[in-house]
Amino acid sequence: MSESQPPNPSEERKKVTTRLVQAMKTRHEPISMLTAYDYPTALVMDQAGIDMILVGDSLGMVVLGYDSTLPVTMDEMIHHCKAVARGAKYALLVGDMPFMSYQASTNEAVKNAGRFLQEAGMNAVKLEGGRERADTIRTIVGAGIPVMGHLGLTPQSIHQLGGFRPQGRDAEAAYKLLENALILQDAGCFSLVLESIPGRLAELVSQRLVIPTIGIGAGAGCDGQVLVTHDLLGIFERFTPKFVKQYAHLSAEIRTAFNEYKADVKAKTFPGSEHTVDMSEDEWKCLEERLAQDTPSIVVQDSSVR
Ligand code: KIV
Repeated sequence: MSESQPPNPSEERKKVTTRLVQAMKTRHEPISMLTAYDYPTALVMDQAGIDMILVGDSLGMVVLGYDSTLPVTMDEMIHHCKAVARGAKYALLVGDMPFMSYQASTNEAVKNAGRFLQEAGMNAVKLEGGRERADTIRTIVGAGIPVMGHLGLTPQSIHQLGGFRPQGRDAEAAYKLLENALILQDAGCFSLVLESIPGRLAELVSQRLVIPTIGIGAGAGCDGQVLVTHDLLGIFERFTPKFVKQYAHLSAEIRTAFNEYKADVKAKTFPGSEHTVDMSEDEWKCLEERLAQDTPSIVVQDSSVR
């Protein structure tokens, strides 16, 4: 089967669960994860057999046009999670908890985490932070909601971190990161995103943890990898992090398509007869005869009514 074809629907395929990603780590099978924010992308991603789909709050930057992830709201996340859940049936679906949806109180955090599963069709949530989030994570997990942690470059803390910059590069910071990873595992996280940290540190953390690590800009030593899909597809041109591998250049292709469409419209070469609704000769003749006898006219009484 060609890789660009959807898989055969009769092939037996199982839904990916948190237990399954744990088993993948145990048998050293790399875990694939990508972000998605809409139905058609989720559908194709699921057909490609991606193990986990993250509806990331990167939504704010790559889809909604914000400068950072901070303005993203719960309602925006839920709206996009629902679309992804309609498209993906097999991947494990992870909803990203937006800024201030879990920091103010544990009570609010559990309620918001619950919305991702109850309203939006997600299977798990992700949230950023280490030791300071342990109690919250414990309570969310206690409510039966799987939690993915996120350490290293945590975009919701860019103002504290001083920008989008790599983390854990000195011995002290690296030690703290490993400590936080162990705390998150102990708090009940089923998996951990490691973003923009040295490859050798990510490998060490992955070896010390029982739960799978998912790296982004963290080298090949993690148990799985994630990328922001708009970066991978070359459809977000504002900036591309160094750690991104672009597998397509869709902005350029889309621009070409839009330019060609515009040229066709201006030159009246689109639409052609193949894009136009047909009417039989007989019906057309009937219309002409009718018009010859009786041309419809409209008496306009009020110019505001059209
Ligand atoms: O929001 C997001 O897309 C993320 C990934 C970069 C892990 O958190």
